Amino acid sequence: MTEPEIQLMATGDGSHSLYHATLDESYHSHHGALQESQFVYIDQGLARLPPQTTQRVLEVGLGTGLNVLLTARAQQQQPDCAVDMVSLEPYPIPTAFIDQLNYCDLLACNAAERALFRTIHASPWQSPQALTTGFTFTKLNQRLEEWKVPDAPFDIVYYDAFAPSKQADIWAQANLEKCAAALRPGGILVTYCAQGAFKRNLRAAGFELGPRLPGPPGKKEMVRAVKPQ
Ligand SMILES: C[S@@+](CC[C@H](N)C(=O)[O-])C[C@H]1O[C@@H](n2cnc3c(N)ncnc32)[C@H](O)[C@@H]1O
Repeated sequence: MTEPEIQLMATGDGSHSLYHATLDESYHSHHGALQESQFVYIDQGLARLPPQTTQRVLEVGLGTGLNVLLTARAQQQQPDCAVDMVSLEPYPIPTAFIDQLNYCDLLACNAAERALFRTIHASPWQSPQALTTGFTFTKLNQRLEEWKVPDAPFDIVYYDAFAPSKQADIWAQANLEKCAAALRPGGILVTYCAQGAFKRNLRAAGFELGPRLPGPPGKKEMVRAVKPQ
């Protein structure tokens, strides 16, 4: 992939996304970036984990940082449960675009949350940052393919890559096997993508898929896959 050529765009729920001209692909659903991220990664993902003192979250594709912002907000609503989040991003978005994104306006973020959103992008790479009480964030400037699975297992993977029609290789079985290796038994992988070949790769990588799961508004289906106990 070459250096991204990016444009700001509006989606159906009024929230912004970014359009990647080289791939001819957006960073989120055209139906609504905010509602997609909230539904897929928080409501059908993080919120479905059994309660414990710390949840470890791995995100494939930091992009705009929207999933990080929503995860930090969800953690603030459950302060007894800390979140330790790691996001991979090999192609960071220039700050000029980040500053235009309207997520904090639509979420009616307070000053601390607005500062947190900026810090997601301004914080140093490869270095854990305590962004709020109970929310630690580490961003890694690398591809999933080169990432080394750490010893501490994750509870959930947000698999938020560009669509298989635009970036087929990232949905390959080898990458999903790496995610399975990174998860604890019983851990889950959530994504907006429900493509048939991807679901076959998930099963081949050792994941179990339950009954079909309805997707966010405008999308028939999403996927929540479980690493068997
Ligand atoms: C659908 S967009 C990201 C959406 C993001 N979570 C957000 O809320 O904006 C996919 C992201 O994956 C990143 N990406 C591309 N190739 C990757 C790879 N091999 N490993 C990890 N991330 C990758 C892209 O640069 C892009 O930021």
